[in-house]
Amino acid sequence: MSEVEAKIKPFLKWAGGKTQLLPSIETKLIQRLHKNTSVNYIEPFVGSGAVLFFLLRKYGKHIKRAVINDLNPVLTDCYSIIKQSPEPLISQLAKLEQQYFSFSGQEDRKKLFLEKREEFNHLEGEAVRKSALMIFLNKTCFNGLYRVNSKGFFNVPFGKYAKPTICNAEVIRANSQALQKVEILNTDFTETESYINEQTFFYLDPPYKPLSTTASFNTYAKGGFFDDDQLRLKAFCDLVNKGGAYFVQSNSDTTNNDESNTFFQELYKEYTIERVKAKRAINSKGSGRGEIFELIISNDHVLGNTTSPDADALKSSLNS
Ligand SMILES: C[S@@+](CC[C@H](N)C(=O)[O-])C[C@H]1O[C@@H](n2cnc3c(N)ncnc32)[C@H](O)[C@@H]1O
Repeated sequence: MSEVEAKIKPFLKWAGGKTQLLPSIETKLIQRLHKNTSVNYIEPFVGSGAVLFFLLRKYGKHIKRAVINDLNPVLTDCYSIIKQSPEPLISQLAKLEQQYFSFSGQEDRKKLFLEKREEFNHLEGEAVRKSALMIFLNKTCFNGLYRVNSKGFFNVPFGKYAKPTICNAEVIRANSQALQKVEILNTDFTETESYINEQTFFYLDPPYKPLSTTASFNTYAKGGFFDDDQLRLKAFCDLVNKGGAYFVQSNSDTTNNDESNTFFQELYKEYTIERVKAKRAINSKGSGRGEIFELIISNDHVLGNTTSPDADALKSSLNS
């Protein structure tokens, strides 16, 4: 891996970042790579792209083409700006960082944060500025959340971090290079249907079904993601499977809170479901933090991927 490749990584913090599940997802991808040597990678709910950037960093040469999508237009504009014109973005971010660190007290920093949040919420048509403000707010707000109110205004409070990294120029430049073979879409996940074929690997990470009515955290974009959307996603997975493509989906395990709530076990009963221990970084209540299980649902078994070759041997052969 070159020095530049080593810097390919998410440029935002995002709820539901997938670091904990990466080893399981990686094992599944390399099994497909082993069969096809190169794949098309499609991620219809990309968020901060924890899996995308991990795969581009580690297996970039085996990924022929990638398509990412998210319903959040500010987010997908950020990806497009990084892909097409990283330098103006970097210089705006460097200025914002300088301004932030010119204040040593949290009260002054909070005032600046609120001013920039206001600017962000009312800015239209200046994509580079909007992307710079989005990254700035993401790095300085509470927990790196992205949440909007009913009017679509970003409303996450100030985060009080001592030394947030606001402008990481090297990561942005490395991502810009890596994104050259990535097509960026801003639409509903179902629109990625046209990419279904036997060489395609879909990784689906939708807003999780909340574990309880109070733990609802699925407001990444105006509108939310509800049970009907989970059903639409199941129908989409059926299409992917029928078209001979491979899919891996992560979702919450509703049996964590209530053993009888087997929503996904029922819905995906003809597919492979694995329960993986995961630490949720974001939970609505502090006391709810800790180890819980998440689900990895795939069509492994339907596609006949049940014999698992030695994952470590495969990883090193693909990286040699
Ligand atoms: C769980 S997050 C993905 C997190 C991502 N794996 C990461 O590493 O950051 C779900 C994403 O789906 C997006 N989303 C919500 N509804 C959508 C829809 N109908 N179609 C496409 N994307 C949607 C949200 O904006 C959010 O970024």
